[in-house]
Amino acid sequence: MYIFSLIKKRLVGAIFRIDLKINSKLTIIGVFEMDLIVKGGTLVTAYEKFVADVGIENGKIKAIGNLVADNDTEIIDATGKLVLPGFIDAHVHLSLPFSGTISADTFETGTRAAAAGGVTTVIDFAIQSKGTTLKETIDKRKAEADGEVIVDYSLHGGITDWNEHTKAELPDIIKKEGVSSFKMFMIYKSEGWLTTDPVLIDALEETKKLGGMIQVHAESVDLLDSLIAKHHNKEEMDKLGAWLHVVTRPNIIEAEAIQRAITWAEYTGGHLFIVHMSTGEGAEMVKAARDRGVNVIAETCPQYLILNEEVFKGENGHLFATCPQIKSKKDGQRLWQGLADGSISTIGTDTCTFNTEQKAMWKGDFTKIPFGLPGTELMVPLLYNDGVKAGKINLRKMVEVGSTNPAKVYGLYPQKGTLRVGSDADIVVFDSDKEVTVDYKNMETNCDWNPFQGKQLKGYPHLTLVRGKVVGKEGKCIGEKGYGKFVKRGTSGNFT
Ligand code: URP
Ligand code: ZN
Ligand code: ZN
Repeated sequence: MYIFSLIKKRLVGAIFRIDLKINSKLTIIGVFEMDLIVKGGTLVTAYEKFVADVGIENGKIKAIGNLVADNDTEIIDATGKLVLPGFIDAHVHLSLPFSGTISADTFETGTRAAAAGGVTTVIDFAIQSKGTTLKETIDKRKAEADGEVIVDYSLHGGITDWNEHTKAELPDIIKKEGVSSFKMFMIYKSEGWLTTDPVLIDALEETKKLGGMIQVHAESVDLLDSLIAKHHNKEEMDKLGAWLHVVTRPNIIEAEAIQRAITWAEYTGGHLFIVHMSTGEGAEMVKAARDRGVNVIAETCPQYLILNEEVFKGENGHLFATCPQIKSKKDGQRLWQGLADGSISTIGTDTCTFNTEQKAMWKGDFTKIPFGLPGTELMVPLLYNDGVKAGKINLRKMVEVGSTNPAKVYGLYPQKGTLRVGSDADIVVFDSDKEVTVDYKNMETNCDWNPFQGKQLKGYPHLTLVRGKVVGKEGKCIGEKGYGKFVKRGTSGNFT
C-alpha cells in the first residue's frame, strides 16, 4: 500500500494499483495505465463468479482485480450489477433477400438492436448465388455491412454452388478471409439453396482438412414437399390457415435430416453444426452422437425454448412462421435440458425480421409467408428471465451458451467470449432487478410487432460495451453507426 502511494505520487496520468485475487488472497501485482474502470460489479464467466473491477485500455481488458483510479479516469459504477462478457448472436440474417422480400432489419437496425440488448458481436451469412464465388459473396456482404454496423460482426459462408472452384477457394476463405464456418441447406429448393447428400459429404471432408465447419439447416426436403403438396389446397387453407405450417412440419422433418447429417459427420469425421435446432428428438440424437464421439455441435433459439405451437392458432398466427417452425412445450423443455447438460452448446436467434406488412403477403396461403422472426434484442434478457430466473440454467451456463461457446466454436476465443486480460473489452453490465414489459414500440429492432409482445421480463442489460465503448444504455442504442468492425475468425469446430 505504502509503496503504491509512493509510485502514484511520482507518476502522472492514469495510474492504478492492481490487487489480483489469487487463491483467495489479494496480491499486488503492478501499476497500469487505463482509460476506464468498470467498478464493483459481480463478474460472471463460464467458469467463475466473483466481485472485481475491470480495467480497460485501448478497447482491451487490461486488468481485473481491485483497481484504484486517479481522478481523471472514467469510472462505470457496476455495484450491485452483473458484469458479463458481451454476448454473441452467431445466427442473424440482416437485409436478407428471402421469401419474395428482404428481411426488415438492416445491418444498422439489426446491430442497434444488438447494442441495446447486450449482444456485442453478430455473425451473419454470405450466401452464394449460383455462379458466384464465395470470395465475391463475402466481399459484397462486407461492403453492405461496413460503415453501417454498431457492434462487431463476422460472416458465415453459405454454400449453394459446390464445385471445383468453390472447393479450391476454401483454404484462402478460411485462413485469409477469416470465415471458417459454412451453412448448407437441406431444404429451400425454390431459393436454389438446396444441397444434396454427396455434396454435404464432400464439404464435410474438405472443410475438416482445413479447420472449417459445416452448419446445416436440417429439414427433410422430400418429405416436407410431399406434405406441403398434400395440404396445399383451398379447402384446408380456408379452414386451418397458418396452422398448416405446423401440420406440414411434424418433428420427423427435422429429426430425419439431423440423423442423416450426423451419419455423414460420423462417416467423414467432419465438423458438423446443427443450426436452429427445434425438436426434442434432435436434442436426443445430438446427445447420443456426441456421447459416441461424433464431432457435432448444436444451437437452439429462444423461440423454440420459450414459445410453443399454440402461437399459430391465433388470428396473427402467421406472424410466427419461421423455419423450422416452433414446436411443442415438451420440445422446449427437452431443449432447455440439452442446454443444461451440455449437449446443446450455443444459443443464437436466427433473426430474420419481417414486419406485419411483409407477413401479410401470405394472403391465407401458408407456403407464401415470409419465414423468420426478430430476435437479437431480447436474446440476453430472455435467457436470463426464462432460463436463469426460472431455474433452468445457472448464470455461468447462460454466459457459456450465449458468449463463451459461440466464441470457441466459431474461432473467436479468447478475443471474444470471456472476461480476461487481453480480450476485447466487450462487456455487458446487467441489471438483474430491472423490470421490462416487452413492447416493440420501445425497441430498436425494425419491426412493428414482437413474438414476445407484453411479456414481463426481470433482468435487462444496463450497459453494453464493445471494445470499451458504451454502445447500449437502458435498452437503447447509443453507439455510432460504423463503429462495429469485421472480425476475422480462426478455425471453427474444434470444440468438445
Ligand atoms: O425462417 C427462417 N429462419 N429464415 C431464415 C433462413 C434460415 O433458414 O435460417
Ligand atoms: Zn436455416
Ligand atoms: Zn437462419
